[in-house]
Amino acid sequence: MVRSPSAVDRVLGLLREPPAEPDVSAGYLDLLGPDEERAPSLAQSVMESTFLPQIYEKVWRPVGFNLAKGWPIGPDTAAEQAMARDWLGLGQPGDADRPAATVLDVACGPGNVTRALAEGVGEDGLVVGLDASATMLARAEADTPSGGEVCFVRGNAVDLPFRDATFDAVCCFGALYLFDDPWTAVDGMTRVLRPGGRLIILTSRRLTPLYASRVGGELIRRATGFTVFGDREVTGALADRGFTGIRRRRYPLMQLVGGTLPDA
Ligand SMILES: C[S@@+](CC[C@H](N)C(=O)[O-])C[C@H]1O[C@@H](n2cnc3c(N)ncnc32)[C@H](O)[C@@H]1O
Repeated sequence: MVRSPSAVDRVLGLLREPPAEPDVSAGYLDLLGPDEERAPSLAQSVMESTFLPQIYEKVWRPVGFNLAKGWPIGPDTAAEQAMARDWLGLGQPGDADRPAATVLDVACGPGNVTRALAEGVGEDGLVVGLDASATMLARAEADTPSGGEVCFVRGNAVDLPFRDATFDAVCCFGALYLFDDPWTAVDGMTRVLRPGGRLIILTSRRLTPLYASRVGGELIRRATGFTVFGDREVTGALADRGFTGIRRRRYPLMQLVGGTLPDA
């Protein structure tokens, strides 16, 4: 699926260093290119496989995430998406007055959350889904109807390519635990938010604060690239970066954290 030129042009206008010859040959805007040299962690290798994107949205995501959120007590996918739109100050599907917000979906995978966020913005809104995995983005392109309000970018979440104070809202679901430097990624998400902008993060949660579990978590991180965050780590990271109105929902193995940057 080829994105509408207007959406790509709008995204090019948000970049710190727009490429002279943008590569949109795969439908999404590719800012990493074929030469990118990375040694992906075990967890990220799975994300870059051709198989996972095929089953991600319908099987892997609902089964894995809903269990981690404590299904059937925790929120299912629809409730989680409604909360994301609400905490980010967007509208809900069908609302007449959805804001024309500019939204970034960090580590968008096959675009499942990106599409849910797009349902919360009005006609002149823009939702940018960014991911490093070409296979995930190929699936995102295939599954997302062409329209002016969504554009996918292949880029690095830990070194966001956007200008400062660009987005009204930033969402990062199911990915902070995969980043090699999650706190630099949070710095970047803060940087690209405008004053008064909102951030929401859904990530892993360590079940117990015990030392043994921290040591176990570190071993898992080194072996697989998967980080398990403590209860106050993510809220603390937002507070340290000046977010206000910080809120959190704790689930058995996941946590949802949100906050707002002060107005200028
Ligand atoms: C589990 S999927 C999450 C998809 C979606 N956000 C959701 O909540 O279902 C995690 C995604 O993070 C992406 N990812 C991991 N590290 C990344 C990085 N440094 N930059 C961009 N994307 C990254 C992977 O490629 C993968 O598509």
